[in-house]
Amino acid sequence: MGTLSRRADIGVGVKSRDMFTTRLGVIFATLGSAVGLGNIWKFPFLTGQNGGAAFVVVYILSTLVVGLPVMIAEQTIGRAARADAVGTLKKLAPNSAWWLVNLLGILSAFFIMAFYTEVAGWVFAYIFKAAGGSILSSDPAVTSAAFTSLVTSPVQSLIWQWVALALVGAIIMLGVSKGIERVTKTLMPVLFGILVIVCIRSVTLPGASEGLTFLVKPDFSKLTWSTVLTAMGLSFFKLSVGMGTMTTYGSYFHEDQNIPATATRVMLSDLLVSMLCGVAIFPAVFAFGFEPAAGPQLLFVTIPAVFSAMPLGRFLMPLFFVLAGIAATGAMLSLYEVPVAFLVGSCGWDRKKATLVTLIALALVGSTAALSSSTLADFKLFGMTMFDLFDYVTSALFLPIGGLFLCLFVGWRWGSAEIKKALSNGGKLDNQLVVTAFTGVVKVVTPALVLIVLLTGLGII
Ligand code: TRP
Repeated sequence: MGTLSRRADIGVGVKSRDMFTTRLGVIFATLGSAVGLGNIWKFPFLTGQNGGAAFVVVYILSTLVVGLPVMIAEQTIGRAARADAVGTLKKLAPNSAWWLVNLLGILSAFFIMAFYTEVAGWVFAYIFKAAGGSILSSDPAVTSAAFTSLVTSPVQSLIWQWVALALVGAIIMLGVSKGIERVTKTLMPVLFGILVIVCIRSVTLPGASEGLTFLVKPDFSKLTWSTVLTAMGLSFFKLSVGMGTMTTYGSYFHEDQNIPATATRVMLSDLLVSMLCGVAIFPAVFAFGFEPAAGPQLLFVTIPAVFSAMPLGRFLMPLFFVLAGIAATGAMLSLYEVPVAFLVGSCGWDRKKATLVTLIALALVGSTAALSSSTLADFKLFGMTMFDLFDYVTSALFLPIGGLFLCLFVGWRWGSAEIKKALSNGGKLDNQLVVTAFTGVVKVVTPALVLIVLLTGLGII
């Protein structure tokens, strides 16, 4: 993971810890975790399902007052402790039960990977479908049938998920994440470029304006507390916070990294990518007569239609899915790293064994999600298929609960003095205002909001 290099001069107790080499490297590595299927697949489908612009507004607000503070909090304690997610809490609060918060995080990483690897598998499958040309159509019936035939085949679902798992497992096992990070870094601008092209085509389609209206003109009467919870869950998911990923990443940061500034840049870039994905998809949804509330299939049925209406679309579409696959891989690496770092750091396993055991466990748990549209379509818990359940439980419960306790930990247990020391890099940064604002937000505002949204969104109050 990350632009890492061996450094022996970092400080006490971290003699052999990997570090990110450059400040820009940190931003790209963090972005590599944040940008992924959350932007390309989840943000559009949830926006479509939850009424459009009003959902987007709540999502953006939640990113600012919930996602960003939690990201800063996580990175800060990770750097202060220089340990894995669980180890960090054990180190900063010895002889207490706080570490259980990040143990929940490890469970979250597992459950997210269970469905994320399946969606990544669909993306990989679509590279080939796109190259073959069969899905290049603006007819909803044709593109939907292609998607359905993929997800209702148990064999294809499992195989593509295993492709995703094997790829990520191999990258981690071979320790070549460093190389991958370089690939991500160079290809991220290409993904950005192709997204812009898709956006231009989408907004110039006849009938596109309805889609833009859907995306930017909020109708707040469509909001319910459960929608607000979904938007808040998305803001956690998007920034990879609430489960220890950013704590793990923070543990590789340099002492002189300006954490609030870095996190803000990452948050803004990530938001921009999501908005581009929205602009790429919604005008086309309305122009071609797709269903905005189509759910998880939205990306896969709409994008082929846009490319079919574009010069060189036949060549650009496979490229689009290759880039989406690479973005998904960067995010999966960061998810996979959490249990592996825990098994190595807190349980003393060697890295190979940790990677392999995690891989097998992920394949087992993940298969129940992969088969959710075929063999296990009728197997439901709490009225949801396993795919939906893993998605719901992590975004609507585990990540917000993890984030809530993390804020409480940082704000009240770790405390203002430590926050000040850590955020100002021991007094080297002149950012008193940022420190004061962050302290207030992390102590009161964020936990209160998360708690209210959780309780009302789940129907408890
Ligand atoms: N943020 C990634 C995305 O949007 C997914 C992700 C990676 C994630 N690591 C995470 C989500 C940790 C929650 C927690 O695709």
